[in-house]
Order: sequence, then C-alpha cells, then structure tokens
Amino acid sequence: MQMGRKQGPISMWPSGDLTIARLRGIDPWPRPTGQLLHKWQPLDQEHLGRGSAMKMLRNMLQERCEKPRENPSDFFDYVIEELKKEGTILTEAIALDLMFALLFASFETTSLSLTLAIKFLSDNPSVLKRLTEEHEAILRNREDADSGLTWKEYKSMTYTFQFINETVRLANIAPAIFRKALRDIKYKNYIIPANWAVMVCPPAIHLNPNIYEDPLVFNPSRWEGSETTNASKNFMAFGGGMRFCIGADFSKVQTAVFLHSLVTKYRREEISGGNILRTPGLQFPNGYHVKLKKKEI
Ligand code: HEM
Repeated sequence: MQMGRKQGPISMWPSGDLTIARLRGIDPWPRPTGQLLHKWQPLDQEHLGRGSAMKMLRNMLQERCEKPRENPSDFFDYVIEELKKEGTILTEAIALDLMFALLFASFETTSLSLTLAIKFLSDNPSVLKRLTEEHEAILRNREDADSGLTWKEYKSMTYTFQFINETVRLANIAPAIFRKALRDIKYKNYIIPANWAVMVCPPAIHLNPNIYEDPLVFNPSRWEGSETTNASKNFMAFGGGMRFCIGADFSKVQTAVFLHSLVTKYRREEISGGNILRTPGLQFPNGYHVKLKKKEI
C-alpha cells in the first residue's frame, strides 16, 4: 500500500513499514538461495499485448455490428444490443474495456494458476501423493461408481483446498489491486488524501516471512486447520471487500474438478518449458509442456 502525507508536517512517500513490506514482497529480500526465484522484465511486452488484444476485440465488435445475429447468444450480442439502446451509459470504448478485462479476469487467471499447480505437482512428489490419495479415496467411497463428482464430494476435498490456497498465494496472479480514497482516510499516523489512488500489493503479504513461514516454499499443509477460504488481511489472492473477485468460487470448483481428473486418471511427464517469469504478472515464457498418459485401472 502506498501511503499519503503524514499528519502534521507534510512528508510525502514516507518509507513506512508498508512501503518496505511492498518492496520486500515483490522481490523478497534477503533472497533465499535455491528457492522459487523469478525473473523480472519491463512492462512493455504487456502493453503491446493489450494493444493487439484490443485491436482484435474492436475488429470482432465491428464485424458483429455489421452482421448482427438474429438471436443474441453471446456476450458480444448483448453488448451490441445494449449499445443500441437509447440513453445507455455504455459506450463502445467502455464495452471494449470490459471485454478485455473479462477476457483476462476469467481466462488468464485460472489457466495460469492451473499451469502453476501442475508445475508444483511435478516438483513436489509428496504433495502429489497426498492429493492423489484424497481423490482416490473419493472414488473408493463413492456409492454409485458411475456417478460424476458430487457437491458433497467437492466439499470434502480438504487437502485440495489447502493445495489451491497455496497455489494462488504463490501465483499472485494480481500483483496489485487498486482503490481510490473517496474521502480523507486516516491510517495510523498517516492520512490518505481524498481522490488519491491506493495500490494494494498482495505479494507483499503473501511473501512476507513474518506472516508465512518460509514464504517461498510451496507447502499446502500450512493451511491445515485454517478457516481462510476467501479473503483476509493476510490472504488477498482474490482481492477483498466489495470488489472481491466474482469468479473466486467458480475458479476453485474448476480447479478442484480439473485436479480430480488429473490425479485419478492421468500420469504426467514433463517435456519442456516450465520456467517462471514475472512481468510483474506470472508468465511461462517458454510455455510448459507436459505429456499426459491415461492411468491403467
Ligand atoms: C485463479 C483464479 C482467479 C484469481 C486469482 C482472480 C483474482 C482476482 C483479483 C485479485 C481481483 C481483484 C479483486 C479486488 O479488487 O479486490 C479479481 C476481480 C475480478 N475477477 Fe477474478 N480471479 C480469478 C478468476 C476469475 C474468474 C474465473 C472470473 C470470471 C468467471 C473472474 C472475474 C473477475 C471479475 C469480473 C473481477 C472484477 C470484480 C469487480 O471489480 O467488482 N475472476 N479477480
């Protein structure tokens, strides 16, 4: 969190605890050797990526406007319908921004955290073993062997939830979330002036050794007995407060179902890639290629 002026004599950008925590959180210091150290790269590539994605979305929207479909069936159709309404607050620019945000929010997030989950499984055989045991027990205890995964079974996946929490804690898919101070906010001895933007940096919390012991170590068991399922001041992988990620529960179900299939039906073999890069978002620059082989039952 970046802090505003101090009460009394004005001092801008004080080097208070939180600012230091933020810097340490992004690039942990002192750097433990042999642990999850990720490379950094300037933001330019992400900006280029956004430019091309926006261009593609703009072209798609234009094409669809020129040839509207009779029955609206996807998000584009509904956006076009809304754009045509009289007095709508939606503009083409807002619509494109929302589409871009949704593309990132719904697809990039879960796919990246799943990729990281597979990487963690490959690197941590004992975790894979425990996860597999949990899911094989679900199959063993199933009354109807042919039924699909049930909600009750999903809710029973204790270790899987610990695994998911630990994956998103280290993934830090959103390296920063933003808020705007609507009025002067007093925080300890500081005032965040009205209209200032506040950048909250979840990695500063998630990688803080005072909060998580050996923060760079992937250890799902650290969540044992923890009630944290959504958000707290120590866990913000899905944000927090009123703008808390609307897809958090959906993405957990998606991840759990994926893991269930993966560990009960397939064996994996790493082929190539798997290097982790932060720009500052999580990336796999050379991809991560694994070969799946059906398990013999
Ligand atoms: C691992 C998966 C995911 C992670 C780590 C994640 C993380 C986040 C974070 C950190 C925020 C910002 C929250 C805040 O400002 O407090 C957010 C917002 C959001 N997420 Fe997710 N997300 C994930 C999956 C999804 C999925 C699958 C969807 C849609 C189906 C989704 C839709 C959204 C939307 C629409 C917002 C904006 C909410 C708002 O501003 O009110 N997310 N997400």
